[in-house]
Amino acid sequence: MIEIFTSDDLDASVESIRRRYAGTPRVGIVLGSGLGDLADRVESKTVIPYREIAGFPTTTVEGHSGNLVLGKLAGVETAILQGRFHYYEGRSLASATAPIRTIAGLGAKTVVLTAAAGGVDPKIVPGSIVSITDHMNLIGENPLRGPNDARLGPRFPDMSEVYSARLRGLAIDAARETGIELGFGVYAAVAGPSYETPAEIRMLRVLGADLVGMSVAPEAIVARHMGLEVAAFAIVSNHAAGVSKNPITHAEVLEAGKIAAPKLGVLVARFVAKIAAADT
Ligand code: HPA
Repeated sequence: MIEIFTSDDLDASVESIRRRYAGTPRVGIVLGSGLGDLADRVESKTVIPYREIAGFPTTTVEGHSGNLVLGKLAGVETAILQGRFHYYEGRSLASATAPIRTIAGLGAKTVVLTAAAGGVDPKIVPGSIVSITDHMNLIGENPLRGPNDARLGPRFPDMSEVYSARLRGLAIDAARETGIELGFGVYAAVAGPSYETPAEIRMLRVLGADLVGMSVAPEAIVARHMGLEVAAFAIVSNHAAGVSKNPITHAEVLEAGKIAAPKLGVLVARFVAKIAAADT
């Protein structure tokens, strides 16, 4: 199965949104498991279910609701992807990352990725928010595999600074101003859907990972392919396998998301305001 997302597909998805929304989002935000409530902060919003957008797959995971929410967050025109697609759902990474391309097609210059993650570094505690500084794509697949569409980006895009240091500086300021503690770490992206074994987590630790999760990296790669500036925040839902003795459950991941969501909402809203303020 080759499922690619071409610039024609992009034009079709943007056009289906353009019929209902005339704005230009400055920032796109992807909300991970249990984090959907951030969209409640958006004002004068247009909500478009994914199934009504040409070229969008539909979500299957509990906790991912599947809406594009467009409107103002902290006074800034924002496009929120409430629900994301994962490799483990069985689709190609090119199709799973289509919404990132659509956000860029609508005019966003920045994408903020959020996701639940396991803490590989034992010092990273559940409930904390970590700014992702770099990733290791260990999914075994790349969203850019297949024919390159030069209208979307270059064949061999640079990945030496996927997560913008400039944006990280703004995130640090936003965290300080809102009194929210922010950690920093390297994210290992794995295919899932099974959680890791303790041996796999020891391997990831040796490789230099601080966090592990089943998303973020493919979206970040596609965003960089299109020249977007990227920031990513992990909500640490659990100690990774073997770091603590507890088994890992999806319910626990959703619960941690729910608890951290208000904190993340405050942080991301301030962050978005800072991104817009830095433009001027
Ligand atoms: N492993 C992989 N993905 C995850 C985890 C984990 O422990 N927690 C939340 N997403």
